[in-house]
Amino acid sequence: MRDFVETTPVFDPAGFDSETCQKFGQTPTQHTHSLHRDPMFTDAGLAALLDRYPREHIGVYRMGDTVDSWECGRLGAISGASLVQAVKDGRIWLNLRDAHRRDPTLADINDRVFDELKQLIPGFRPFNTDLGLLISSPGARVFYHLDVPRVMLLHLRGHKNVWVYPRSEPFVEAAGLESVVSEKTEEEIPYLPEFDAGGKCYRMAPGQMVHWPQNAPHRIDNGDDLNVSLSIEFMTPTAQLRANAVLANAWLRDRFGLKSGIESKPNIGWLPKFVLARLLRILEPRDRKPTVIPHTFRLEES
Ligand SMILES: [Fe+2]
Repeated sequence: MRDFVETTPVFDPAGFDSETCQKFGQTPTQHTHSLHRDPMFTDAGLAALLDRYPREHIGVYRMGDTVDSWECGRLGAISGASLVQAVKDGRIWLNLRDAHRRDPTLADINDRVFDELKQLIPGFRPFNTDLGLLISSPGARVFYHLDVPRVMLLHLRGHKNVWVYPRSEPFVEAAGLESVVSEKTEEEIPYLPEFDAGGKCYRMAPGQMVHWPQNAPHRIDNGDDLNVSLSIEFMTPTAQLRANAVLANAWLRDRFGLKSGIESKPNIGWLPKFVLARLLRILEPRDRKPTVIPHTFRLEES
């Protein structure tokens, strides 16, 4: 069965015509993929993965309906099968972080995704790729936030609404973006319900993928079934330059009160800001990311 899975292309080349390739990463785009057919994402396949995966690299969270209800937990003695059942029964979010480094099958999937995209999209040069497997409960939510790298979400099981918002004010303010990129704050940024009128909602079913511009705010509401997705982060040369420009802007705002924009388009100012940001990383190493969510629960066999 794995032979069949591994020889089936992840993407249909017909879904990457020249217009789509030009839009990829510039505006939210939706695509199809074949990874939902892989038996490793069935209940039995997930249970086996959870049994072999290093437990210390599984993020465990639960949440209510408000952003302050997000809690971080730990895994106790619990089998992979019981963990899958606990996710089905609860309101839990499991994140198998850096999975491409910790599981050979997921490493292979990561390689296949990027090998194919590099073939399909002219000039696409991703690096620092990072694949996370998300296993989450019916009704689970991820609150409004932005990520520093570019992100693709490949949906494998269940249904969810992924809301994606423009990378511009009022959806994201420059100071808020700079705080996230410079790791002064976590990834959550202020959200107002009226933002939804300017956002776009993608109803995700197995076999669908959505990709959005770097730093575009987004949030996720699961449907009433178990959800399994791959969240794949990566950088490109342009994304790296941009992240460093925003990091330099954070420092310039802190030190000199200079107010920059959100760097929505490449510009000549990125080069000196890139140099400044690299210097700052040497001269002013950033503190470790603050842990603002204490461990408040434990998932065990009972
Ligand atoms: Fe995200």
